[in-house]
Amino acid sequence: MNVVFLACGYPPEMQQYTRGLAEVGANVYGVGDAPVERLAPSFKQYLKDYLQVPKLLDEDDVVARVTAWLRGREIDRIEANWEVMVLTAARLREAFGIPGMSVDTVRGFRDKQLMKERALASGLRVPRAARVRTADEARDAAAQLGYPLVIKPISGAGSADTHEVGSPRELEQILARTQHVHELSVEEFIDGEELTFDTVCINGKPAFINVAQYLPKPLIARTNEWISPIITTVRELAQPAVADGIALGYGILAALGMGTGFTHMEWFKKPSGEVVFGEIGCRPGGAHLVDQMNYTCDIDLFREWARAVCWHTFEAPTRRKFNTAIIFKRAQAQGRISKIVGLREFMRRYGEFVVDEQLLRPGTPRRNWKHTLLSDGFLILRHPDWHTANELASIAATEITMYAE
Ligand SMILES: Nc1ncnc2c1ncn2[C@@H]1O[C@H](COP(=O)(O)OP(=O)(O)OP(=O)(O)O)[C@@H](O)[C@H]1O
Ligand SMILES: [Mg+2]
Repeated sequence: MNVVFLACGYPPEMQQYTRGLAEVGANVYGVGDAPVERLAPSFKQYLKDYLQVPKLLDEDDVVARVTAWLRGREIDRIEANWEVMVLTAARLREAFGIPGMSVDTVRGFRDKQLMKERALASGLRVPRAARVRTADEARDAAAQLGYPLVIKPISGAGSADTHEVGSPRELEQILARTQHVHELSVEEFIDGEELTFDTVCINGKPAFINVAQYLPKPLIARTNEWISPIITTVRELAQPAVADGIALGYGILAALGMGTGFTHMEWFKKPSGEVVFGEIGCRPGGAHLVDQMNYTCDIDLFREWARAVCWHTFEAPTRRKFNTAIIFKRAQAQGRISKIVGLREFMRRYGEFVVDEQLLRPGTPRRNWKHTLLSDGFLILRHPDWHTANELASIAATEITMYAE
């Protein structure tokens, strides 16, 4: 089993998928932009071979270089788990006639308007939306959809350039600020809670599913620095509160023609109970969501994903043992972290529930919270009871404070 894995070493969790591939018996042909001599030996041991490319995001260049590199080799899979590389992997698969999702299928997971059109064609509830390329088209769409609405790039990620718009005046301000974006999606604003639906699929059928709840919804978390965002996986999936969201998720996978691999979907639950599609990617969720899912079931999805991709099997138990919460912290003031208040006391009282703690230590420069949800670090904790898990998370969010200077 010879597997080409694009972006094998960055973002850092990609090294875990590389490990998983090697552990299920694949020869991993890694592609990355780091020089081979900079790869840590503990990571390099999982690679059969490695190709350094100057720019991972230069799709044409990567396709040309990988094509030349693979000449004369037998390759069975070409995969990527980083959002910005999934189309490149599909292009290479098509060029080499290798099994996996086609470019057209993957576009359905990358293009926020196309995914909604395909979902709508299958009768699923999506926000009313329009694709716009000019300010006038945006004004027309806004007039048709009414306010409030949401404006975002068609192929956005990380909530960058996603805006809630309350009035025609705000629309003009946002249009002035998003001139650099080539295509925008203008959408009906959906009020309500926001959750995820995550899977590892084999030929479109989920072998593993997960639901997690955002607190608060990402757009609010991304625009208010004082908030410590929380994401909690839902242990009990057989409950009415998530049933419609899971059904929507299955419908979306079918509508988009999912193949094999991870999916990460976001959905809304309106106060009326109605569920509405948000977006979906054919790759794992970021910001340690895979670690959270692993802690939820005590499994290793990095390796199980690899097994699904290579052998079309999934061997880990899917029994859910915990609700697992991640709490992201942002320090007060700028500069370097100067102190963490409340952590020792929190660990003394609740340490038995904490499974990971990676808050930046004093002396470390702050991260840009707008660029990375990881912000100035995080705690992961878990508890079998939903309310207790969220109570502990909210104590961590409010009683641990980080300072910078
Ligand atoms: N139609 C909508 N109604 C209400 N809120 C929305 C809508 N579309 C997006 N949002 C909010 O904006 C956030 C970012 O939007 P979206 O997920 O589409 O963008 P993204 O850039 O892919 O974000 P990320 O990479 O963080 O998931 C959503 O998580 C949600 O909170
Ligand atoms: Mg999103």
